[in-house]
Amino acid sequence: MTVPLHIGMSLAPTWLSGDAWRRNDSRIEEQYFLSFYQSIAAKAEAAHLDFLFLPDTLFLDTQAVQSGGGFAGLDPTLVLAALGQSTSHIGLLTTASTTFGNPYLLARQLQTMNWLTQGRIGWNIVTALGGQHNFGLDMMPSSDERYRRAKEFTDVVQALWGSFPSDALIRDRALGRFADAELIHGIHHHGEFYQVEGPLNTPSYPAQIPLIQAGASHTGRQFAASIAHAVFAASPDMSVARELRDDLRRRASALGRDPSNIRVLPGLSLYLAATREEAKDLHMATHKRLDINRRIGFIEECTGMVLTQWPMDKPITEEDLPANHGKVRSKTHADLVVRLIKRERLTLGALLKRPEVIGSAHWQIIGTVDDAFNSIRSWHAHGAIDGFICTPGGSWDCVDLALTQLMPKLADAGLLRSHYQHSTFMGHLTESVV
Ligand SMILES: Cc1cc2nc3c(=O)[nH]c(=O)nc-3n(C[C@H](O)[C@H](O)[C@H](O)COP(=O)(O)O)c2cc1C
Repeated sequence: MTVPLHIGMSLAPTWLSGDAWRRNDSRIEEQYFLSFYQSIAAKAEAAHLDFLFLPDTLFLDTQAVQSGGGFAGLDPTLVLAALGQSTSHIGLLTTASTTFGNPYLLARQLQTMNWLTQGRIGWNIVTALGGQHNFGLDMMPSSDERYRRAKEFTDVVQALWGSFPSDALIRDRALGRFADAELIHGIHHHGEFYQVEGPLNTPSYPAQIPLIQAGASHTGRQFAASIAHAVFAASPDMSVARELRDDLRRRASALGRDPSNIRVLPGLSLYLAATREEAKDLHMATHKRLDINRRIGFIEECTGMVLTQWPMDKPITEEDLPANHGKVRSKTHADLVVRLIKRERLTLGALLKRPEVIGSAHWQIIGTVDDAFNSIRSWHAHGAIDGFICTPGGSWDCVDLALTQLMPKLADAGLLRSHYQHSTFMGHLTESVV
């Protein structure tokens, strides 16, 4: 019996990041067209992946947008709603912030999506990386406050989903009874952040909506352990992934949950080509213009160090780290950089090339389809992952290699389903045996 991997395909689109959008074959002009997303969705569904995924931010980086389209995106829930019409089985994971959203509106929106796609929507719960100025705040709330709000927001959403259960729908023509009002109830929530009476005016669809969480600080992990069916993780190496997975499973157990009900899915950044040399070239070409000052600024943000005068060939060591590193948007990403410095004593030049600094600190494979296959199989065999979220980079060819060669290879090896057994997102996630 083989436990399959749960694999999601990010539509971010990471394969246009860096300089990749400048390639002649990038199809950049189609970036905001539905057909652009549909073409990948069709391939991901043909490969029997668990879900399509769209991250989200609620602000525009006006400096970064001059050279790359990273932060200029469409509303993820609307894109996924449209994709629900051209797909039939694959899950659809949208991202919504608990810091800036409204629980009543989101509960209704997600249940609407759940009906329209017959059980294929999922919610990636984020406390957000920024955007406070668009929501009347001068500063991001503290990490503690964001997670207190996230917990209350999620509790309210779940209570609202329970307030109008699908069982309440009778729809008996002969008796003229549409719904059983006894099964519909208010939630009378009076909390620190929200006052919500309920019930929701949208009935719940029978299939449960999976909750995915992103953010791996201590508080983030505890929150995930209490509610998440899966965690979107930033795990640049296997030891980070294993530590996170072991820790989340332990925390879930301590809270009385079955640890196998919390799945750890790191982002996997793939630069694939026919040969390793070509893959390296693809990676280099994609990142050749990457602004060094932005990367140094990011390390400064994570560590509290001032590095503008630091020689490129001088190692940064644990002793160089200030005791208290300043304010960070994401403890998860800051901790990964600090951990890397403590572990490897890299020079500044070497540090600037690491995925923790260049990318989103995701697991990165630069090589052939076979290289990727072997690495995924090894991480799985070592108990580091329950699956991953695929974020191909560099080119459309790389997307194609990931979806039409790597995924079938994983399926042939019994690591990924070769046909859908279910038609709901939760069905895919809870399917444990091929
Ligand atoms: C892998 C990963 C993906 C994330 N994706 C998003 C996202 O799409 N949108 C967003 O606003 N925040 C995103 N975040 C930010 C988290 O929701 C969270 O706000 C941030 O990491 C701070 O929490 P922490 O201190 O627990 O890390 C992501 C974080 C991680 C680690």
